[in-house]
Amino acid sequence: MRSNSRTNLSLVCVLVLFAALAWALTFCAARDLQNEKSDGEKPNGNSKCYVCHPILKTEDISTDHLDIGITCDECHGPSIEHMHDEMLMTKPDLLFGRAEVERMCSNPTCHKPGGDRYVYGEQDHKDQAAIKAFYKKWLHRVRPNGRFISTSSVCTDCHGTHNIVEELETDSDEKNWLTAFNGRDLTGWRASGAASWTCRRGQLIGTAGTNGKGGTLWTNAVYEDYLLAVTFRATWPIHAGIWLRAEGSRLGPRVEIFENRKAAAFTGSIWVPVKGLALLNMREDLIDRESWNTISVKVEGNRFQVWLNGEEVGVILTSGPAKGKIGLHIETLPVGAVREPPLLYVREVLIQKLGNPEKETPTISKD
Ligand code: HEC
Ligand code: HEC
Ligand code: HEC
Repeated sequence: MRSNSRTNLSLVCVLVLFAALAWALTFCAARDLQNEKSDGEKPNGNSKCYVCHPILKTEDISTDHLDIGITCDECHGPSIEHMHDEMLMTKPDLLFGRAEVERMCSNPTCHKPGGDRYVYGEQDHKDQAAIKAFYKKWLHRVRPNGRFISTSSVCTDCHGTHNIVEELETDSDEKNWLTAFNGRDLTGWRASGAASWTCRRGQLIGTAGTNGKGGTLWTNAVYEDYLLAVTFRATWPIHAGIWLRAEGSRLGPRVEIFENRKAAAFTGSIWVPVKGLALLNMREDLIDRESWNTISVKVEGNRFQVWLNGEEVGVILTSGPAKGKIGLHIETLPVGAVREPPLLYVREVLIQKLGNPEKETPTISKD
């Protein structure tokens, strides 16, 4: 086991050196390509791994490295047998246990530690304030990636969610979920107002305009009763939200993605036109500001129930349109409140229609 991991490490060193060379040579070309063609991928890129690991398309460790031309293979090896093993018994060429992560990342050509240390430690991080803030928030707590944060945490405890494949609520009856965002373009959606929406690398990215009331990206389809799960991340501060049932100018409730300190209300709260904040999420810690989060909503009749990252925020009863469009929304923040317009990244919008099955096209079950 021990010598095996040594061999692995030296293999990693060689691979990483090679990667650095290749990177230096292709850096400019890759940058240009990526700027122009968002989903442009080298033939030897990550697509072959995404086939079975689609979730890693939008995961930080893979995307941050992909930005500088480091693909899955450069960390995990070409893994040809792993890819072609239909029995799924062959592991990838290179795997890293938790104990091996720090050494692997601290390779001198990658994240070179200062002094004569051999691990890229906290003191090597550029933004000491960010580290302090991170500890203040997470020390002795479990992050949404399932990792417990202590003073001896390794890189992947704090960075990314690479180690988990979370399929929120979709495992049980997957077939009933509709994917409202296809991961490629805005088919099925229509924008209104002052915000821009683009797609890049499997993500839907919304930016508020610099003036006006912000904007919304509406579904073309109209929904009555449904379950909704939206997986997103944001740059903060932001004021965004999800309209739940909007019929033209008649708006239903909106789940907020924001931080309203005055009202002590955080993401997952519900705002109802005219009435104001009808449900307050007072738990600031439910959101992970550095990573992906999932807002789930159950809309049934006049009942609206919200969860954030699997924790129930609450339920409200309110009147309003009986059916309507779902909208991803971003507000324009006052000038001076932010340096750059905030960004909302959405990687998944899943909808499951609820209601009387008799209303649906009947399915004939043959046994
Ligand atoms: C034919 C499907 C398939 C392809 C293609 C594929 N994988 Fe996998 N991979 C799996 C399955 C199934 C597992 C085991 C379940 C899991 O951990 O998600 C797995 C697990 C892994 C693991 C974790 C193994 C462990 O024991 O912890 C790594 C790392 C990995 N794959 C890397 C890759 C890389 C890199 C590529 C592309 C070069 C790739 N995979 C392509 C199906 C595939
Ligand atoms: C910069 C190096 C790096 C890149 C690039 C990278 N990985 Fe990993 N990967 C790791 C490390 C390190 C771990 C171990 C993380 C841990 O458990 O803390 C890991 C773990 C995994 C696992 C195991 C998860 C588990 O729960 O056991 C899978 C699956 C995986 N990687 C697949 C991929 C795929 C597919 C890609 C490309 C899309 C990729 N990785 C890109 C370094 C990398
Ligand atoms: C205790 C949590 C924690 C651990 C452990 C950790 N990081 Fe970080 N890291 C952060 C935070 C917080 C930031 C700043 C915010 C950000 O960029 O995500 C950061 C930033 C970075 C950056 C951006 C530039 C820089 O150097 O500041 C890199 C690169 C990085 N980390 C690499 C690593 C590597 C490699 C390891 C493991 C050897 C590691 N980190 C371990 C929390 C951690």
